[in-house]
Amino acid sequence: MAEHDVMDKLVSLAKRRGFIFQSSEIYGGTGSVWDYGPLGVELKRNVKNLWWSRMVHQRDDVEGMDTSILMNPKVWEASGHVEGFTDPLVECKVCKKRFREDQLASQECGRKPSKHPGEHDDCELGEPRMFNLMFRTFMGPVEDGGSTVYLRPETAQGSYVNFLNAQMTSRQKVPFGIAQIGKAFRNEITPGNFIFRTREFEQAEMQFFVKPGSDEEWFEYWLEQRMDWHRALGVREENLRIHEHGADELAHYARRAVDIEYRFPFGWKELEGIHNRTDFDLARHEEYSGKRLEYIDSGAGERFLPYVVETAVGVDRTLLAVLSDAYHEEDVDGDERVVLRLDPGLAPIKAAIFPLVKKDGLPEIARKLADELRGASINSFYDESGSIGRRYRRQDEAGTPFCITVDGQTAEDQTVTLRDRDSLEQTRVELSQVRGWLRDRID
Ligand code: GAP
Repeated sequence: MAEHDVMDKLVSLAKRRGFIFQSSEIYGGTGSVWDYGPLGVELKRNVKNLWWSRMVHQRDDVEGMDTSILMNPKVWEASGHVEGFTDPLVECKVCKKRFREDQLASQECGRKPSKHPGEHDDCELGEPRMFNLMFRTFMGPVEDGGSTVYLRPETAQGSYVNFLNAQMTSRQKVPFGIAQIGKAFRNEITPGNFIFRTREFEQAEMQFFVKPGSDEEWFEYWLEQRMDWHRALGVREENLRIHEHGADELAHYARRAVDIEYRFPFGWKELEGIHNRTDFDLARHEEYSGKRLEYIDSGAGERFLPYVVETAVGVDRTLLAVLSDAYHEEDVDGDERVVLRLDPGLAPIKAAIFPLVKKDGLPEIARKLADELRGASINSFYDESGSIGRRYRRQDEAGTPFCITVDGQTAEDQTVTLRDRDSLEQTRVELSQVRGWLRDRID
């Protein structure tokens, strides 16, 4: 399948099944902003919960936080974003389209490769100018320079300015980390590729504060941990790789950066960044706020400004990787089947319950089972409409790992048919065992 076909098919399936819709669709949409529908929001929550569980709950050296999107504007001066968070923008004087100068060779223009420049014969690009990617707005009723605030372009700064608050209240000792999941905003010049590069997105970031000198060791540790997490989502190993940044690629705050890349349908691209930010951010916040942010190690009788190893992944980008990896088309007995082979732990709906026919008391048994499963927090879906084959196909497209059919035999021996989405195998399981059977496979 050609790469653009896959993206078109994914976008169409995402809409058809209620994963992702264009924002403000009835008004013709908004530039590169997307809404998560009933299935999308479940998938997104499952991804975030797995991240939180792995990064916070399963560790004793990482604390969670949830800091605000709007911050004192001095934060962004200190962080270097006001001055340096820019991309070179060029405009075609003829068609007025805008491009990132550093990506002219591979413009991600919508989902089609752009021919620009040279899209039209008289194409004429202007001089590049630096464009700051932060969204600006005003706080309070007066719209002047003194009330300018920014929508945060990363969650990290909220963790840095709260470093001592979190450390002292949790009584953590360095090394320890602060984890956050939250919205970030960037006024990207060339957003695109569906939810890959958008102007409003969600990040899951963790800042790990370490003693200077131990940073390289921790960097290796976290790189390995994060690769493991992507594998645990069920993403195929051959679609993951790492890319070490050269000196000319490093962000203004980074001494070392490695991207975890995923092979998207449009090529290898960054999914997550692991950064050694040294003491750049804490030192700058000390300088700009006039407050000391040193860590005091009373045991060792020393004080120092920690270095930071950061892990930063896009939640939406992770969803795109998970969805593209899971998308399969196959032939089943001469019929085409579209199936999302999502890991059962990630799947929005864990089980779909069908009465084979709408009579003989089967709907009542099926509804009772669906209620029981929902009561046990196993997200389940009851469906009695259409042929059983169509009901299976709908759930295959939704990525539902298990379909349970209540049929004539159920009334006789209290068993149901459990169909596995991937192997298509069907097994009979006792009604009373269904809940435990599912639990073993979705947790
Ligand atoms: N705090 C460090 C930081 O923000 P980054 O590499 O700029 O680093 C981290 O961003 C991750 O956030 C990226 O690897 C990507 O997954 C996601 N991300 C960045 N910009 C994005 C955008 N415009 N749309 C969607 N995800 C984005």
